[in-house]
Amino acid sequence: MPAMMRTAPNIIVTGTPGVGKTTTCEELATKTGLHHLNINEVVKKHNIGEASNDPDDPNTKIVDEDRLLDCIENELEEGGQIVDWHACDLFPPSMIDLVCVLRCDNKTLYDRLKARNYGEKKLQENMDCEIMEVLLDEAREAYDEQIVVELRSDKTEDMDSNIERIEQWIQNWKKDNGKDKVEAQGEGQRDEDNPMFLHG
Ligand SMILES: Nc1ncnc2c1ncn2[C@@H]1O[C@H](COP(=O)(O)OP(=O)(O)OP(=O)(O)O)[C@@H](O)[C@H]1O
Ligand SMILES: [Mg+2]
Repeated sequence: MPAMMRTAPNIIVTGTPGVGKTTTCEELATKTGLHHLNINEVVKKHNIGEASNDPDDPNTKIVDEDRLLDCIENELEEGGQIVDWHACDLFPPSMIDLVCVLRCDNKTLYDRLKARNYGEKKLQENMDCEIMEVLLDEAREAYDEQIVVELRSDKTEDMDSNIERIEQWIQNWKKDNGKDKVEAQGEGQRDEDNPMFLHG
């Protein structure tokens, strides 16, 4: 569905495990009234993840992406979804308005993952993922670079300012594309309408 048919935007919040996706999405959803679409929960609810064969990491699920898309298609079509997942390139670009890639300092991420009691192999894999900017590359390859925004999420203040800026972006998107459009007509284009505004 083209963006003009949605009355609220669909936003992906992605990044390496532990960067702060869920914490950010929860607060953003509370503040904006948009729906936190936590893909981990969708996978559990619809039982669409198969246990991996990795003996070091038996809890990792391999997700059937086609089935996942079937499960969330209606919600994406409706709009107003904050999609929370550690992958992003499977969501159809026509349904996505903004992609936020959260980033975290190595030492901070290490401490967060260690606190989860991750084994050494899983910890190292995730650290490599962050250092190699895997999610940022994935997002830039899958979506128009204009809608991909990299946001630091090291400290609480970073999260607060990220949420504030995304909230502002949502308000502007609604004025330009959603039900507020008519009221906003004639106001002209603002810098804040461009996702690049979030780069700060
Ligand atoms: N910007 C931040 N400042 C301080 N603490 C943070 C920040 N972001 C996340 N945290 C903390 O880091 C931990 C991991 O955050 P969270 O669970 O939101 O990560 P996640 O990206 O959703 O991970 P996963 O991919 O495994 O679901 C939590 O304890 C959270 O409170
Ligand atoms: Mg999470």
